[in-house]
Amino acid sequence: MADRRRPGTRPVRQARPDRGGGWTGREFEVTVGPVAHGGHCVARHEGRVVFVRHALPGERVVVRVTEDRQPGYCRADAVEVLEASPDRVERPCPYSGPGRCGGCDWQHVSWEGQRRLKADVVREQLTRLGGLDDGDPLLTGLDVEPLPGGPLRWRSRARFAVDRTGAPGLRRHRSHDVVLLDDCPITVEPAAQAVLARRWPGAGAVDVAVDSAGTVTTTRLDRRGVPTSTRVLRAGEDVPGEADGRAGRRAAGRDWEVEGTGFWQVHDSAADALVAAVAGAAAVRPGESVLDLYAGAGLFGGALAPAVGESGRVVCVESDAEACAAAEANLAGLPQAEVWQGEVDAEGLTGLLEELGGTPDVVVLDPPRAGAGPAVSRVLAGTGARAVVYVACDPASLGRDVAAFAAAGYRLAALRAFDAFPMTAHVECVALLVPGDAGR
Ligand SMILES: C[S@@+](CC[C@H](N)C(=O)[O-])C[C@H]1O[C@@H](n2cnc3c(N)ncnc32)[C@H](O)[C@@H]1O
Repeated sequence: MADRRRPGTRPVRQARPDRGGGWTGREFEVTVGPVAHGGHCVARHEGRVVFVRHALPGERVVVRVTEDRQPGYCRADAVEVLEASPDRVERPCPYSGPGRCGGCDWQHVSWEGQRRLKADVVREQLTRLGGLDDGDPLLTGLDVEPLPGGPLRWRSRARFAVDRTGAPGLRRHRSHDVVLLDDCPITVEPAAQAVLARRWPGAGAVDVAVDSAGTVTTTRLDRRGVPTSTRVLRAGEDVPGEADGRAGRRAAGRDWEVEGTGFWQVHDSAADALVAAVAGAAAVRPGESVLDLYAGAGLFGGALAPAVGESGRVVCVESDAEACAAAEANLAGLPQAEVWQGEVDAEGLTGLLEELGGTPDVVVLDPPRAGAGPAVSRVLAGTGARAVVYVACDPASLGRDVAAFAAAGYRLAALRAFDAFPMTAHVECVALLVPGDAGR
């Protein structure tokens, strides 16, 4: 067929062929089954799986199908609750609910109920993907631990979307539509207001972060997601000349420098909690060597360095140049600690291990959502490190990597989980892996 586009226009993306059952828009009653990874529960109707949002296990609800593109399953929202779970509560956020803001999954669930759901998801992922026995005491005894501060106003770093008119908000679930917001009750107030109380003409999104001194940094992104300008505000007033400056964060009893809106644990209290969990699992001793992979601004490496002392060694590996510069500053007073800029992949890691010479005693890794992957997991297991402490923001990735470690001779020896993302289905885990025969 002749190309009928005008010169300079982009082809319209072909709609994905609908291979579902044509159920979109249909409404029917279901009894809701268990929670699944991704913020929904599983139900069945006429032999098909229905992933239901805005529901809870055991509830009887009317669902409306929102998406039906696959033969095996469709997606739906609970639009009416016929029999409610005891865990159901009034949503504290006026923007959440079926068809509305997609930023949170579980505004309709009590905080305790959210943590029970998260524990179920971690258990399911570690049995199904990680190969653990569902009777494993690490799983049966798992609690998702709350962080201080309650389920609202915990988010110190966020990305908001901006619509074509310059109005800010967040996207509808599985949609590009921007739901306009005046507030986001899970975000700390100065961050929410710095973005939502004004318009951003021409922007595609805005990143915002508040540091421990209350300084707000906003970074405007264009429609391709490229940062175009940064603004720093203190007590609501512009701080000129600090546009490229660093934010100050306080955690683990010391101050840290971080790139303005660069990576730092999102929950205000997460850095403290995770450092304590990592230090407890690693139990490093004077003179030991530690590899901190995906190190960001050097949080875990910097926190463990005093324990290995000057006779030990800590090597932080991070790919992002600005995070590395922040890590250099954070480790400046610790001669036993150094920063290596580079990609953590099987090849890079093998080269790094050769250069370092010898086996690290402890490896800490905190990869992005996709996890470290089987190749990196195999290389790490090949080091024979006495402890691998894996910090994971996605239990599915953790499950897959635990299986890769297990195939290479490591076993899960301890597991903690933290509610570092209340109101959402996300959960942060800290897992200790040890060589299979250790401690038996
Ligand atoms: C989840 S963050 C953890 C940062 C740090 N551990 C902390 O808690 O502040 C993941 C970090 O890994 C970095 N990263 C992502 N992919 C990487 C790769 N392949 N190699 C090295 N670093 C990577 C990102 O830039 C980011 O700083």
